[in-house]
Amino acid sequence: MISAKVKSKIESLMTRYPRKESALMPALMLVQKEKKNNLSKADIEEVAKLVGVTDAKAFGVATFYTMYNVEKKVGAYHLQVDTNLPATLAGAKKILAHLEKKLGIKAGETTADGMFTLTEVECLASCGTCPVIQVNDTYYENLTVKKVDALIESLKKGEMPDNKTASHWGSTCKVLLKNRGVKDATKLAVYKKNGGYTALGKALTMAPEAIIAEVKESGLKGRGGAGFPTGTKWGFLPKNNTKPVYLVCNADEGEPGTYKDRQIMEYDPHLLIEGMAIAARALGSKLGFIYIRGEFDWIADILETAIEEAKKDGQLKEFDIIVHRGAGAYVCGEETALIESIEGKRGQPRMKPPFPAAQGLYACPTIVNNVETFASVPFIVEKGAAEFKKFGPAESAGFRIFGISGNVNKPGTYEYPMGVSFNELIEAAGGVDGKLKAAIVGGLSVAILTADELKDLKMDYASCAAKGTALGSAGIMVINDQWSIPELALRAMKFYAHESCGKCTPCKEGSKMTVRALQKIVSGQGTKEDLANVERLVGTIKGLTLCPVGEAFSVPIRAMVEKFRPEFEALIK
Ligand SMILES: Cc1cc2nc3c(=O)[nH]c(=O)nc-3n(C[C@H](O)[C@H](O)[C@H](O)COP(=O)(O)O)c2cc1C
Ligand code: SF4
Ligand code: FES
Repeated sequence: MISAKVKSKIESLMTRYPRKESALMPALMLVQKEKKNNLSKADIEEVAKLVGVTDAKAFGVATFYTMYNVEKKVGAYHLQVDTNLPATLAGAKKILAHLEKKLGIKAGETTADGMFTLTEVECLASCGTCPVIQVNDTYYENLTVKKVDALIESLKKGEMPDNKTASHWGSTCKVLLKNRGVKDATKLAVYKKNGGYTALGKALTMAPEAIIAEVKESGLKGRGGAGFPTGTKWGFLPKNNTKPVYLVCNADEGEPGTYKDRQIMEYDPHLLIEGMAIAARALGSKLGFIYIRGEFDWIADILETAIEEAKKDGQLKEFDIIVHRGAGAYVCGEETALIESIEGKRGQPRMKPPFPAAQGLYACPTIVNNVETFASVPFIVEKGAAEFKKFGPAESAGFRIFGISGNVNKPGTYEYPMGVSFNELIEAAGGVDGKLKAAIVGGLSVAILTADELKDLKMDYASCAAKGTALGSAGIMVINDQWSIPELALRAMKFYAHESCGKCTPCKEGSKMTVRALQKIVSGQGTKEDLANVERLVGTIKGLTLCPVGEAFSVPIRAMVEKFRPEFEALIK
């Protein structure tokens, strides 16, 4: 039975959303937390009845997202070890092997006393502070074998140790990371003291069309990955619309190698809120959502506190924001899957068109933008498009947070103007740890570049495209010469196979077939046919899938095989 306290929380959640089904995901999570990290069939049925959906729908949702532990006995401490590519580069496999030995269980198992469950998970958006383990809702970052031992000893005593850790960062632009080092910067008073909410004050005196025109003029392009011009997207809202307009902030931060949005939300949440409030004024929106990945539980709390503060201060008079927590699904970063997820459904992408601007959340016009995109808006409104364009080249205007991970001495987040050279960023990140072999510069789903190709690379859209890669989410993964590219290709491919939502066969089956072929090659059992199969599978998927995930694995794997073919061939019998 669900307790009366949790029931009442769920009922109040249901009244917050335009449609009560949207409360299904948070309701399942509330119940799971109450039931010591487990969800039984009976719990799901009870939630279904409360929220007013069928049992089948609630089961469909609960079994789609990885963070729900459906009929899976999870121990008191759920140790979730991230081994995605940046984590692997930082030594996560060693951490996992050590834990397996120490606890006497394999990943996927629970100790006999029910104390620990060990799980291998995908990127936790902590790439610069990997190796990371998520223990229940808490991240432990920058781990070493010694720190892991101390962590386990403490957990055995029933104590969750302090999880504070330092991370590297730097800013030459002082906009998005302006308040990063400031004490209590998450507090409204501190934000306002440093000039916060001035831009919103100005926006409220401007005509909505004038705000859109300024954003268009600035040349700001979406920072989520695709780089679509923000002002143009805002202009796509239907004219003479009578339906509500929804604003959605994409804070899913799921692309491996990407951990930049977190820097804004965790350290300067009001910057995002101010950006969304200005956008709401421009677009006539009364309700916005921040769709945040479920693992960022504490950051969601920070955002909720900041929203409450902003409301009390009168900053959000005609606009409200709901923080909607995801539950573990990379594909929910895709905007239509994200919308499905807010509607309380499995996060599977929709066919486009219609695009969200015409028909998105609850079939109403919806604008989806990334955290960093919204956070760039206050500067544009306050200082003007011309000032924004002073940063970076004409086609890539503005500043950007580059997340650097992998084999560098000071992995971290660095705010620079667009067009900064790859070398300057690496220098800021303390230089390469070892000899540079390659790097993936725009999140995992872009083509790898060799050390030679990186020599004169500039970090802007056009320069990256000219090298056959993409700036994407600006997550840079640096690889030294200790690493075998076929092994990294296999790890990358496992991620996509794990995250395929299963809607299209070429992605669902093709990703698994590619993993199997790469597994054979990496283990020394592969043949020429296996390599040809990998190339055929990733070479023919373009255009065959509903959403870009098919292409997202095709591009990096093809590039790895093309550029490092001798390494693959050397493993073949
Ligand atoms: C599989 C997949 C995952 C994505 N993940 C994210 C994400 O985590 N964060 C994000 O902002 N955009 C992500 N995107 C891009 C969004 O679909 C969308 O383009 C973006 O949120 C729009 O915001 P922007 O124009 O401000 O970049 C993803 C796209 C795909 C296909
Ligand atoms: S491409 Fe993959 S993730 Fe995207 S809709 Fe198809 S199966 Fe789902
Ligand atoms: S957080 Fe570890 S790989 Fe991204």
